[in-house]
Parts: sequence; C-alpha cells; structure tokens
Amino acid sequence: MFFSPACCLILLLVLNFTDAGRILWKIKERVRNLQLQKAKQHLQQQTVSGRLPLQHVKEGRIHQPLDHFDRQDVSTFPQRFFVNEAHWQRPDGPVFLFIGGEGPIFEFDVLAGHHVDMAEENGALLLALEHRFYGDSINPDGLKTENLADLSSQQALADLAVFQQYISQNFNLSHRNTWISFGGSYSGALSAWFRGKFPHLVYGAVASSAPIVGLSLMNEAVGGSEKCLAGVREAFAAVEALMNGNASQVAMDFGCCTTPKNLDDQIELMQNLADIVMGTVQYNEEGVLMSINELCGVMTNKSNAYEEEMEAYNRLVKLAKIYHFTSEEPCLDISHEKTVKDLMDTSLPLGRRAERQWTYQTCTEFGFYQTCEDATCPFSGMMTLQAQTQFCPMLFGISQHSLPGRIAFTNAYYGENDNPHTHRVLYVNGGVDPWKELSVVQERTEDREEAQTIFIRDTAHCADMMSRKVTDRRSLRKAREEIEKHVARWLKMAAAGEN
Ligand SMILES: *[C@@H]1O[C@H](CO)[C@@H](O)[C@H](O)[C@H]1NC(C)=O
Ligand SMILES: *[C@@H]1O[C@H](CO)[C@@H](O)[C@H](O)[C@H]1NC(C)=O
Ligand SMILES: *[C@@H]1O[C@H](CO)[C@@H](O)[C@H](O)[C@H]1NC(C)=O
Repeated sequence: MFFSPACCLILLLVLNFTDAGRILWKIKERVRNLQLQKAKQHLQQQTVSGRLPLQHVKEGRIHQPLDHFDRQDVSTFPQRFFVNEAHWQRPDGPVFLFIGGEGPIFEFDVLAGHHVDMAEENGALLLALEHRFYGDSINPDGLKTENLADLSSQQALADLAVFQQYISQNFNLSHRNTWISFGGSYSGALSAWFRGKFPHLVYGAVASSAPIVGLSLMNEAVGGSEKCLAGVREAFAAVEALMNGNASQVAMDFGCCTTPKNLDDQIELMQNLADIVMGTVQYNEEGVLMSINELCGVMTNKSNAYEEEMEAYNRLVKLAKIYHFTSEEPCLDISHEKTVKDLMDTSLPLGRRAERQWTYQTCTEFGFYQTCEDATCPFSGMMTLQAQTQFCPMLFGISQHSLPGRIAFTNAYYGENDNPHTHRVLYVNGGVDPWKELSVVQERTEDREEAQTIFIRDTAHCADMMSRKVTDRRSLRKAREEIEKHVARWLKMAAAGEN
C-alpha cells in the first residue's frame, strides 16, 4: 500500500539497508573494507611495474552552499573530492566522475575499479566527489535534525553541478572535455539523475545495480534452488514459532547478547537473522561472508545430526554460528533501545557514520523496502513496514502518513524508472541482485539506443564496478565489455559533435 507504483527505482534504492538491522550495515562496511584492501593490492602490483603511483591522487575541498535553493542562505560546508590526473590526455581528454553515495569516498575511488580501467584506456581525468553529509563532507553539527534539512538528493545533484563548474575552471576544461558519470546503487541512481537533470553537464551516465532475495536463493547459476528458498522460509517460520513460545531459548540458541525484552527486540532479532541471509545474497562471492552456494548447502543439508522436528531451525542456528565466526562481535546485539539510541546520536566521531543520515533520506525521500509482509518473502512476517517506519517520527518528527506523498514526489521529480526518456544512461544489473526485479531490466529500443540495460546473470550487487580480475565470471567480463563499448561510443559521438 505504501509503495504502489511498485516499479520505481526509489523503492529499490532502499534496498540498501534501510530496512536493515545493524548487521547489514556491518556487512556492507566489511565488503567495502575488503574491496579497499583488494584495490590496495592491485595498486601495489601496478606500482611495481611502475605504472600508477599513489602520489597522483590529490585531495581537495570545495565550499558548497548548504542550501542551493535558498539564495539568502550563505552558509556552506566543505565537500571532499579526489582527483587523479595520471591517465589524463591533456587538454581534451574526457572526465570520468565517480559519484559518492551514502558513505565516505576513498582515494581508491580514483585508483581502482572498472571506471579507472576505462579511464586508462580513454585518457580520462578521474574525479570522485563525496556525497554531502557523509564521510568528511559534513559540518560538525550536521547530524542535528534541523540541519539534516539540507540533506537531499536534489541538493546532492546541485553539488555535482557546482563541482562540474569548479573543476572546469580549475583545469581549464572546455566543451571538448566529455564528462561521463559513474555510480552504484544509490549513487548509481544519482548518476542517472545527474544526466537526466543536467544533460548539458554530463554526456553519458553508467548506473550500476540500482538495487536487491528470494529469486537469488533459487538461482541455480550461483548454487541456489527452490529447495534452498523453501529451507530458509521453513527455518524462519520455526524461529518465529519458538519465539512466541520461549524467546529466551531462541536468544540462547542464536548467541544473542541479551534476552529480548519486548516485541521490538524480537523483531530486531528476526531482522538480524534476515540480514545474514540478505547480506550473503547481496554480496555473494565478494569474499566477506559465505556464498549463496554455501548458505544453501547449510539450509538444505539432510543430516541425521538434527532431530527432524527442529531441523530447519537448527540449520539457521548453524548459519548464525558461521556468521558469528566471521564477525568480530562477541554476541548478536538485538537491543532495539540501543539501535534507537545510536540513531539519535548526533555526534560525529571521525565522520564514519551513515545510518542516521540514510534513515533520514529514506524517511524524507525514498521510503522503506517493503519488508516481509507478503507471501513471497522468505523471512518473518514480524518485520512489518510499521516496525521500519516508526523511526521517522521517533527520530525526525516525520509522520509515517506523510511517507507515501514524499515517495510520490521523488518519483515525480525524477520520473518513474520504467519509462526513462533520458538518453545515454546505461543501467547495469546483476542477476543475483535480489531486488533486481525492481530496477530497469527490460531492454528499451524505442528511441535509437537511448537508455540501455545490461543484465549480468550471475553476479551480485555492483560487482561490475570492481577492477577486472582473471577469476571473473564470463558473464561479468562480457558485461564489462558491453559497458566499455557504450562508453567508447559515447566518447566518439561527443568527439563528432553529436548532442
Ligand atoms: C589554466 O590556464 C591559465 C591561463 O592560461 C594558466 O595560468 C593555468 O596554469 C591553467 N591551469 C591548468 C590547471 O592548466
Ligand atoms: C525456556 O528456555 C530456557 C532456556 O533453555 C529454559 O531454561 C526455560 O525453562 C524455558 N521456559 C519454558 C517456559 O519452556
Ligand atoms: C551437513 O551436515 C553434516 C553433519 O552435520 C556435516 O558433516 C556436513 O559438513 C554438512 N554439510 C554442509 C554442506 O553443511
């Protein structure tokens, strides 16, 4: 009910963990850290062959207006960016802009990744701009509710426009320098919207995995099966049943830090268990958790070790143990009170916070993922939309009833995703991405090769954005080649003066 026009990008964005408990955020952070580590290794190898010195990266700050749409407001915030000129063919080489999303950016965003590979081949200047209110790009009092008013995707797009001008001036760029933007998930949407709203500033846009489980658990290409999905469903039903009978037993079995005090804690527990499954699906084979293959191995394992009645339940217990083994937390934190307290905290230790800001953006712009209230969802029906959206009034004084109108505005403002009229926007989707159904996957051919879609059958969330590896699946390699072809064609068209 909240979310009909069911097919908007928006919904999907949300993918990203709005619905999530703490675990999914942690998983996301670990994936990011691992990617950075891999990028570092990759880089060290290149430095050895004398090709890509880290010193090429410059960090800068631009003083951005806090509110682009209020001319009487002169306050600013410092926005961080990185520049890598190592590959740039001066003076006319193109500009590849990596757009930051709901988290900090890193030097590696201009040193590693598929866009960097392509920059090397196309002689491009590499830029990365951090999203306002994330990472270091936030004033010290930025997390106060009244100051969050300046956090929105509209303001972020205006930041990009100002940044484009700023860089153009500083690097003496002209119309001969063709700008292409890149992003994944939320920032993938920003990439597409930037092209849509400012087509004179950016010539083409790549939007990777505009976001999300059930389908993936059935995807045989990655080791899923219907049996696996059924196993997950059965296990969650068993946990829910026992929770109603003896919650302290459940807490003990799953290694929780405390016994659930109330329904909110119980929901938190279910959410965290669901996060383990969703995190696995979302980051299949990224090397942080198990793969879908391993998860399904556990969830479908016929073993005499389990008593029949509790079999599904015990498999999930085993899965939680495996997760626990890979994580650094001593126990599974299920305190709802603590979640609320963390989200209310407005301090900024080292600028590494993102949950409060992203919750704010879901409350004001994007809405929450439609949780688990319909029959196709394999998790617990206890994870209701009501439970998710209660944060909006609690944290920000935003009424739950206002959410549908806000989401409708976002969709109206950017245009609904299943009918993008924008030219030269390339949507890349992984087949394992559980919520891929909600992104644009249908090939559009009406207008000559305008908005396009590349579908990768068996890779996870945003995998195409990583640098090439010899071990990459064939489908991923092919998708990257497709992306490269598009980008090369855009650059050619731009050079030929086509609008
Ligand atoms: C841009 O052009 C000006 C004037 O021609 C020159 O002084 C400046 O060094 C140039 N900047 C860059 C980054 O090339
Ligand atoms: C619930 O489980 C705990 C831990 O196993 C046990 O000590 C307790 O007796 C159980 N309570 C009921 C009502 O079954
Ligand atoms: C299945 O269960 C058996 C007995 O507990 C265990 O030895 C085996 O490793 C399990 N297989 C998987 C894939 O988890």
